[in-house]
Amino acid sequence: MSAPARYAPIKPANDPAVIEEAAAILKAGGLVAMPTETVYGLAADAGNADAVARLYAAKGRPRFNPLIAHVAGPNMAWRLAGWPDLADQLAETFWPGPLTLVLPKRPDAPIADIANAGLDSIALRAPRHTAAQALIRAFDGALVAPSANPSGAISPTTAAHVADGLGDRIDLILDGGACPVGLESTVIALLGGAPTLLRPGGLARRQIEAITGRLAEAGSSETLLAPGMMKSHYAPNAMMRLNAMAAEAGELLLGFGPVEGDLNLSTSSDLAEAATGLFAALRALDARGATRIAVAPIPNEGLGEAINDRLQRAAAPKDDLF
Ligand code: TXA
Ligand code: MG
Repeated sequence: MSAPARYAPIKPANDPAVIEEAAAILKAGGLVAMPTETVYGLAADAGNADAVARLYAAKGRPRFNPLIAHVAGPNMAWRLAGWPDLADQLAETFWPGPLTLVLPKRPDAPIADIANAGLDSIALRAPRHTAAQALIRAFDGALVAPSANPSGAISPTTAAHVADGLGDRIDLILDGGACPVGLESTVIALLGGAPTLLRPGGLARRQIEAITGRLAEAGSSETLLAPGMMKSHYAPNAMMRLNAMAAEAGELLLGFGPVEGDLNLSTSSDLAEAATGLFAALRALDARGATRIAVAPIPNEGLGEAINDRLQRAAAPKDDLF
């Protein structure tokens, strides 16, 4: 692969010729940003160690933080991982969609070791977005895709966000509009012990627990810590103060429901609407030059659990990595 152009072109994701071009770039070891229903992902050939190394370098991502392999559906998944009945039930109900399953990696899986940080497990997800589905099918194989942002920064929910953060070090950006869910997938581990919640996300816990029963918490077992769950993540430039009812001097307020604010995540207190707009709102307040952002309380139910998780990471001191 030759070095990328100074800035990656942005092309429409609903054009079949563009999807073919993107698949060819991936076959040649390149990096393509693709829309998913959660956030934009930076895709590379999961089986090409050089391409995956280039992906880690482009994001500045620590190599110990494994990637999610994106598949079209269960038929691609069970070739890569041990596939318990529970995976079948969850995939049947929630795939394609914002749920990632961490499963035992099959020794013969065509996945580069660097893609899953040398672990004997692998994270798999079938994205729902039509462009992501089309790209995986055109490529005809698994694509690793972390969120398409520099490591530690706010995840992108538009093609312009991707261009801002990574435009000078990737090959192509597929524009599929704004991501409808707005938060990364929920990650759960199915590794033989109790099903464990590794990362709250765009699929609410209680929907999963209707099938799995109560999920164990990451951290209750040392072996099941999600390697990438650094405390400081998703961080805007501004300092953050959570559970604020009003702005203090020098603060811009991100409101929710009746707490009005300079921007409001959802005046009708709709958590799905708040999730969709959360990352764009943090970017917008940063762009207004805020040095301090206060955030109204968000109820910790449904998608509120993942919203609060991201807000707490955004508020953590930036040198507080674990
Ligand atoms: O919605 C999403 O999941 C987006 C879109 C692009 O699909 N992707 C995404 O990827 O958020 P990333 O790399 O930003 O987050 C992947 C998470 C990290 O917390 C990582 O540590 C965890 O999944 N993970 C990946 N493989 C794992 C494994 N084998 N065991 C435990 N955790 C794993
Ligand atoms: Mg990420």
